[in-house]
Amino acid sequence: MITFDREAHLFHIRTPHTSYIMDIVSGGWLRHLYWGARLEHWHGAAAMPMMDRSFAPNPADTPPDRRFSLDTLAQEYPAHGNSDMREPAVRVAQEDGSRITDLRYVSYDIVPEKKKLPGLPAVYADQTAAETLEITLRDAVTGLEVVLSYAVLADSDAIMRSVWFTNRGLRAVTLERALSACIDIGGLQGYELLWLPGAWARERQVERRPLGHCRQVVESRRGASSPQENPFLALVAPGTDETHGEVYALSFIYSGSFAAFAEMDQFDVTRLAIGLNPFDFSWELQPGESFVTPEAVLLYAAGGLGEMSRGFHALYRHHLMRGCWRDWERPILVNNWEATYFDFDAAKLCRLIDKAAELGMELMVLDDGWFGHRNDDRSSLGDWSEDSQKLPEGLEGIAQHAQEKGIRFGLWFEPEMVSEDSELYRSHSDWAMAVPGRPKSTGRSQYVLDLSRREVQDYVIAAVADVIRRVKVSYVKWDMNRHMTEVYSRALPARRQKETGHRYMLGLYRIMEELREQFPTVLFESCSGGGGRFDPGMLYYMPQTWASDDSDAVERLAIQYGTSLVYPPQAIGAHVSAIPNHQTGRQEPLVTRALVAMAGTFGYELDITRFTPEESREVQEQIALFKELRPLFYHGELYRLLVPARRGDAAAWLVVSPDRRQAFLTYVQPLAMPNPPHRFLKLAGLDSNLSYEVRERLTSAREHYPQAPQSWLEHGPLQQGSQVFGGDELMQAGICLPVLMGDYQAFGWELTAVEEE
Ligand code: DGJ
Repeated sequence: MITFDREAHLFHIRTPHTSYIMDIVSGGWLRHLYWGARLEHWHGAAAMPMMDRSFAPNPADTPPDRRFSLDTLAQEYPAHGNSDMREPAVRVAQEDGSRITDLRYVSYDIVPEKKKLPGLPAVYADQTAAETLEITLRDAVTGLEVVLSYAVLADSDAIMRSVWFTNRGLRAVTLERALSACIDIGGLQGYELLWLPGAWARERQVERRPLGHCRQVVESRRGASSPQENPFLALVAPGTDETHGEVYALSFIYSGSFAAFAEMDQFDVTRLAIGLNPFDFSWELQPGESFVTPEAVLLYAAGGLGEMSRGFHALYRHHLMRGCWRDWERPILVNNWEATYFDFDAAKLCRLIDKAAELGMELMVLDDGWFGHRNDDRSSLGDWSEDSQKLPEGLEGIAQHAQEKGIRFGLWFEPEMVSEDSELYRSHSDWAMAVPGRPKSTGRSQYVLDLSRREVQDYVIAAVADVIRRVKVSYVKWDMNRHMTEVYSRALPARRQKETGHRYMLGLYRIMEELREQFPTVLFESCSGGGGRFDPGMLYYMPQTWASDDSDAVERLAIQYGTSLVYPPQAIGAHVSAIPNHQTGRQEPLVTRALVAMAGTFGYELDITRFTPEESREVQEQIALFKELRPLFYHGELYRLLVPARRGDAAAWLVVSPDRRQAFLTYVQPLAMPNPPHRFLKLAGLDSNLSYEVRERLTSAREHYPQAPQSWLEHGPLQQGSQVFGGDELMQAGICLPVLMGDYQAFGWELTAVEEE
């Protein structure tokens, strides 16, 4: 619900549990007043008084008042050069060389809908009630109109912000910075920044550090959201954990270069902002032209990181992912990458398919190496027709074999790239991004196609669509294995070159939109050398993302924990892979690998034709179990119980059904301890008034250490294999954890509500 108090000039946005309040101060600037737990009243008790502060400039055209300064005002959309010395949200270069704008209030509107953002991914309302507040500001000198948009949905505490610029002046202006959201919040002394840095194969590791009196930036300058950082930043109260503490979180629905800022000023007011990275960005607006920023999502949670995550999960599952695969349960797949790498032929693939069918798998994915003459990663990107040496009966032959075995067929593409050794490059070398007259860098021996150009977009759409249609592909893995360098588009004039990075993203979004419209029932999974582009922008087009090229179960605990802070488990691509693991050499039991992969989309990525009979039986049981529990995993809510803050820490999580009558607990112990102390695990999200039968469904401990003197079977709470406990007991007193012998052990317990006599 959004209201405007005409007397107080005050906007109040209410979500089910939060409030966001602003007003228009004398002179027409927009002031931020409050963001936090929902309020029914606001009379300004917490409004920060304006005071005469040294070195705080006063605006020229208001009655002289040394107390009023934009440098000390809590602002909603601060401009560069206009006497606020902190991080600006907007900077506009003008023909006279100045970069100053002064945005003043003009009008507002409240519309009963959530608008689409042209050409951009964004939250949608569907059947849910929505409202949007649009506040129009204007710079009198340039005539630039700026509309700040704040949208809310009836079933979420998120506030979606975007900014719509229109040049209503007579001269061209250039946006040099156009962030999507900015908020100035007082009283956050001692709070911490929390963000998700990483690297290839170590994506989204959670880091925290105290907020300081300086400008702190989380950003990607790589032309992709990147494995190195993620478009997310939170400020958390000291001591915040899964169940306690105040969280102010920003997430950005975008897949390219981004920046998130946190700057605590001299009076302990913290400016939080997020948007397109101003680094190497500009956008020219001729008179009459418009520009829309991508969407930022603001989410406040009073009850810790768990509450924040469930807020993001619900929003992104129901209002960002689209199409039938938003709700359809995902197939259990086998992917041939770690099974064969480039070394496969039709016979090998058919053997994989046969085995997959025997084990109960539902989808076979043919990864890299099926096209051109690609026997390593140095050639053929761009030539999307099959290698007839490896596949003499074509892709159709493999797809048909899969179909005969009752398995669906999926295919890998890397459509944004071109290899120098390719037909595409030989005929269109100018489509590779490069600066004329300069050599261009390679990355994994490949170049980035200039997707800012319409004809390149059209080629990619046609090439991928032809294969999907011809082969009747039902799943596409969309990979992207290098970042942008020599950013330049031959299609743009010199003064517009800094638009290239964002135009590339708009081109990519157009391609993905067209393909999903042409193939609405195809399941698309995005990937970027693992989870290098795991962001909300991609989820709008592709409802799951391969989380990491690191498939080691212990490493995945940290990666999937960090990823789950923002992204729902239903979007997290996770597979069981071989031991010794190809990235770490670790050797976790098959059960542990399966339980960790079940926390995501669940599949297998190893040579399943080499399973022993015992392993085959185990995998059949895992698959049967996953199919049985799949509705719970797909519709349940995630409660993280133990988080692996450091490598080697134990992890535990619970998925609870919407009616709270069923749940599945996973516990993973990377390292064993001799003569261990008692450890308690308090569950969450259950119904305190219900009793639950707790039943062991999968465990690695028993099979590997049957004779262990302290095997968990002798000491754990489930001595008979199952037992009934109260929901209140499980949440308040907790479970005294069984002792597990050996490293890399795990168990999975199912909880089912029982009627008490
Ligand atoms: C990187 C991906 O993350 C892998 O899963 C695999 O598809 C390779 N690319 C293939 O080149």
